[in-house]
Amino acid sequence: MYLSSATTEKPAPGTYPADLLASFAARLIAWQREHGRHDLPWQNTRDPYRIWLSEIMLQQTQVSTVIPYYARFLERFPTVEALAAAPIDDVMALWAGLGYYSRARNLYRCAQVVAEEHGGRFPSTVVGLAELPGIGRSTAAAIASFAFGVRATILDGNVKRVLARVFGVEGFPGEKRVENAMWTLAESLVPGGDASDADVSAYTQGLMDLGATLCTRGKPDCERCPFADDCVAKTTGRQRQLPAARPKKAVPTRRTWMLVLLDGDAVMLEKRPPTGIWGGLWSLPEAAGEAALADRAQTFGAMAKASPLASLTHTFTHFKLDIEPRMVEFERKGAALAVNEGETVWVPLREIDAYGVPAPVRKLLDGLRGSLI
Ligand code: ADE
Repeated sequence: MYLSSATTEKPAPGTYPADLLASFAARLIAWQREHGRHDLPWQNTRDPYRIWLSEIMLQQTQVSTVIPYYARFLERFPTVEALAAAPIDDVMALWAGLGYYSRARNLYRCAQVVAEEHGGRFPSTVVGLAELPGIGRSTAAAIASFAFGVRATILDGNVKRVLARVFGVEGFPGEKRVENAMWTLAESLVPGGDASDADVSAYTQGLMDLGATLCTRGKPDCERCPFADDCVAKTTGRQRQLPAARPKKAVPTRRTWMLVLLDGDAVMLEKRPPTGIWGGLWSLPEAAGEAALADRAQTFGAMAKASPLASLTHTFTHFKLDIEPRMVEFERKGAALAVNEGETVWVPLREIDAYGVPAPVRKLLDGLRGSLI
């Protein structure tokens, strides 16, 4: 049963176990018939209008939220012509609370295109459906399979999770390369030419039901899954790792040079501008490079010794900061010139705690205090 594939494109041989590929559709259909959902308001109809309306409402919205909206919508607009002829304000009013309002505007435009350009009949192919406003490839496949028995695959977020786990598809599914591989895999799984319209429907619904009821993101119920024995995630204990999470963006690194100006046991702190990182805190004077830092140090008078301290890195949410501390000591205590540059204070190292100092700077000064004592 269902051994032949509906499409020509297939995953490269050997990528996935041949027996799993071959048995997937039949096993999913058998599971859906026994354990899937059968009484949702948009099931048990072949009316493309009703199916289309449900699929648009169900994009990014849970079944339980959609149900009352769906009923109200159908009562007010029983046909696509009724929807197309309504004032947009009435449509938006009935949509209010469902969110993602571009869906409602596209829904209305789609109804007008179907009513005016297609004589009130929805196209019966995936390609024809996908040309309509608000209908992407996966939604087109859902409508085509439920309403017209077309052997086409859906691939929404839930299905991506199921496939990533069962077949062990690595990589973040939002990445084009991974998504393309998933489309190819999903298409190779749809039931073959011997499948009836009811089988096709049960298959599509099975994909949705498995993702929504068993193979959930946080707590998959593997014990009840028809694919538990073959599932890569289950058999390797990687349910949490598959599908892979969105890769963390590489954070840029900035570099700053900090002046540790020591006059006896006192260090000079400078108040930072009120906005930006560490806004309003007391920190070490900074410069954008070694030479600029040396220039700043010069303004405070003659120096006995300049030495680099170990650099450190501090991670903010959006970037990393490499800190290059340079220590400058005066020949004798009290030799520093009084320089009227912004808000500066000389603070004995043991009194640093009384000032609001950024954590990495505080750490640096604590280390210095330890080494000077
Ligand atoms: N999510 C998207 N389409 C659905 C459908 N037809 N049934 C249940 N949940 C869905």
